[in-house]
Amino acid sequence: MADKRRFELFAQFIVERFSAPRIFDIAGGQGRLNEALAKFGRTVTTFDLRHKHLPVRFAERAFSLEEPCEAELLVGMHPDGATRIIIEYAAMHRLPFAVVPCCSDNSMPYNPWRRYLAGLARERGFPTVEEHSLPMEGRARVILGQF
Ligand SMILES: C[S@@+](CC[C@H](N)C(=O)[O-])C[C@H]1O[C@@H](n2cnc3c(N)ncnc32)[C@H](O)[C@@H]1O
Repeated sequence: MADKRRFELFAQFIVERFSAPRIFDIAGGQGRLNEALAKFGRTVTTFDLRHKHLPVRFAERAFSLEEPCEAELLVGMHPDGATRIIIEYAAMHRLPFAVVPCCSDNSMPYNPWRRYLAGLARERGFPTVEEHSLPMEGRARVILGQF
């Protein structure tokens, strides 16, 4: 069971490190991270396939590399099958990203998946790739990349 505080904790982490006014929240579920970030004055667009969501800026579709770049930061909380694309899109547009990985898209166990994602970011040209921990239960490691 994922920690219910994850959205507030991740939002706090994000605003402490990034000043980006516009944020893409990928695989954001119902939009709870969006809601938490909006309280800090950020403009957030959540991408997810879910029909049922909070009344936030919400793109009800799968995020893809073809999306126009209208953000200065990409984030994802437990984005499952969309984790890799966050890093690929951020690299393509030379934007920073922060993801809290959960399940892989190819059955890779958690720790190898985390190492793979950090390696992917370095391979795509991010000179700075860091890992941090959120103070919560469950999958709590943040992978962050910046140019
Ligand atoms: C484990 S849920 C996490 C949702 C939310 N971030 C949370 O922490 O509760 C994974 C979400 O990824 C979404 N998803 C998977 N692939 C996606 C894609 N390519 N674009 C947008 N959303 C995607 C699913 O619809 C699902 O809501």
